Amino acid sequence: MPQVLGWNDFVDTEAQEEYRRLHLLERIFDPFTFRNLDRFGLRTGSRCLEVGAGAGSVARHLAELAGPEQVTATDVSLAFLTPLTELGIQVRQHDVTTDGPPGEFDLIHARFVLDHLRDREAVLARMASWLRPGGWLFIESASTLPELSSRQATRRSMETLSRVMTEQVGTHTTWARQLPLPLERAGLLDCDTEGQMLPARGGSPLASWLKATTKLVEAHAVDTGLITRHELEEAYELYESPDFLDYSWLTIAAWGRRP
Ligand SMILES: C[S@@+](CC[C@H](N)C(=O)[O-])C[C@H]1O[C@@H](n2cnc3c(N)ncnc32)[C@H](O)[C@@H]1O
Repeated sequence: MPQVLGWNDFVDTEAQEEYRRLHLLERIFDPFTFRNLDRFGLRTGSRCLEVGAGAGSVARHLAELAGPEQVTATDVSLAFLTPLTELGIQVRQHDVTTDGPPGEFDLIHARFVLDHLRDREAVLARMASWLRPGGWLFIESASTLPELSSRQATRRSMETLSRVMTEQVGTHTTWARQLPLPLERAGLLDCDTEGQMLPARGGSPLASWLKATTKLVEAHAVDTGLITRHELEEAYELYESPDFLDYSWLTIAAWGRRP
């Protein structure tokens, strides 16, 4: 049984390359996140928590909606979050799996965080317990769909990405497809979901991000014989070619309200 490292021992969370990858992620996925945030009636004074805030764009957006002093942004790594403190946002180093409540909130959001945590449903219940009565938990998780990939090389590279993330990080690459059931199990009301599947056209931000994310697992995947360097190079070329089009990354936004 391979050893599971967890996200922060697997990814260099302080590297400039990781900053660029997170920044690209924000560019691709923020519009969907921001549209869904409109559901929750946030206004000046709403208390908001952004869990696993990454490079901070969602916390910044919450600050515009609710006021910076109402927003807490947490992460195990604060490498890219210190600029938020200048805006008046509270930034806290905090492990969502073990640390105590960072407060009580009207909205708690986490994007692409629970997927990587082994005890994701227990963590979801922890977050739900930090909500004020009537407050909303809004999570976003992803499912890889290599079987839908249009080309053999990209199918193989995405299968490899999913497998290494599962074995090394503890990621669940299809848990998102159970949503909203885990939110209902946590006792939340009015649970619902919406999915988004963007085209990964060669050269697009999504294709570039899939390539950058595959690069995280490249050394391990090649060294352990899961895929050849030649196959990966073929997938990388497709991710850069304007003739290539793929639908293989599903994002599910899911929410529920504390009674
Ligand atoms: C894939 S990144 C997503 C970043 C950000 N949520 C976004 O979507 O832009 C996952 C983030 O979760 C953070 N993270 C991982 N494990 C965590 C934990 N146990 N507690 C809090 N944050 C964690 C990582 O440091 C990283 O910033």
